[in-house]
Amino acid sequence: MSRHTPSMSVMVAAARKAARGLQRDFGEVENLQVSLKGPANFVTAADKKAEKVLFEELSKARPGYSFLMEEGGVVEGSDKSHRWIIDPLDGTTNFLHGIPMFAISIALERDGQLVAGLVYNPISDEMFIAEKGQGAFLNDRRIRVAVRRDLAQAVVATGIPHIGRPGHARFSAELGTVMNEVAGVRRMGSAALDLAYVAAGRFDAYWEAALAPWDMAAGIVLIREAGGFVADLKGGDAMLDSGGIVAGNDVLYRKLGDLLKKAHKQA
Ligand code: IPD
Ligand code: CA
Ligand code: CA
Repeated sequence: MSRHTPSMSVMVAAARKAARGLQRDFGEVENLQVSLKGPANFVTAADKKAEKVLFEELSKARPGYSFLMEEGGVVEGSDKSHRWIIDPLDGTTNFLHGIPMFAISIALERDGQLVAGLVYNPISDEMFIAEKGQGAFLNDRRIRVAVRRDLAQAVVATGIPHIGRPGHARFSAELGTVMNEVAGVRRMGSAALDLAYVAAGRFDAYWEAALAPWDMAAGIVLIREAGGFVADLKGGDAMLDSGGIVAGNDVLYRKLGDLLKKAHKQA
């Protein structure tokens, strides 16, 4: 069983409330697939609605905390030492296409340090939570990163830059190198869930470039508390600032990081 601090209880309650709206709206999206106009506007509204619920619930429970949110941007609170980092819907493309692989992601930062993370998939009802020093949990069961040390046996997740995003050539070079060394590469469409899956030992490792802080903040706490490691794509600690991240156990995050550096030299 996990021992929560009151802050985690607040995060869980807010996520569950926002999730109820997303569950309803996802059901609606599945119906809208057949209409020509498609569900795009509807999904934007669902996204904003979920963020509003999270903002209201967290503000009510912790007045004064600051926010960094995908939709609403920065909201400075009177309490400068605490900040929520939120993606109300990570995996928008999946949601839009009726693919049940998306999540709410909430992280709490205290004095510039990530201290708590929650990633919740409302469709599978999988709640991944972690607090600094307390371990990582999936629906109250302790989770740990996988123990495989050999890239040739590793299933590695990533994110592919889509239309209008930078980094296509660089990603092709990365994939070209990585796919020759690993058992399989997966692109699930939610960075938050990719990191949660690494924390749970489902994926052995993960990398992606050009992410935003709200895509990875919660997942980073999960990985660390599950005994794993994260770095930016240069092997440093600037994941949130650089947007690049590589994650895995102590051996694989390094091996994958080295492979990526090799790929970048060739690109
Ligand atoms: C996206 C997802 C995706 C990643 C993209 C993100 P969104 O977030 O995390 O897996 O590859 O870079 O922008 O737009 O669905 O919140
Ligand atoms: Ca996102
Ligand atoms: Ca989002």
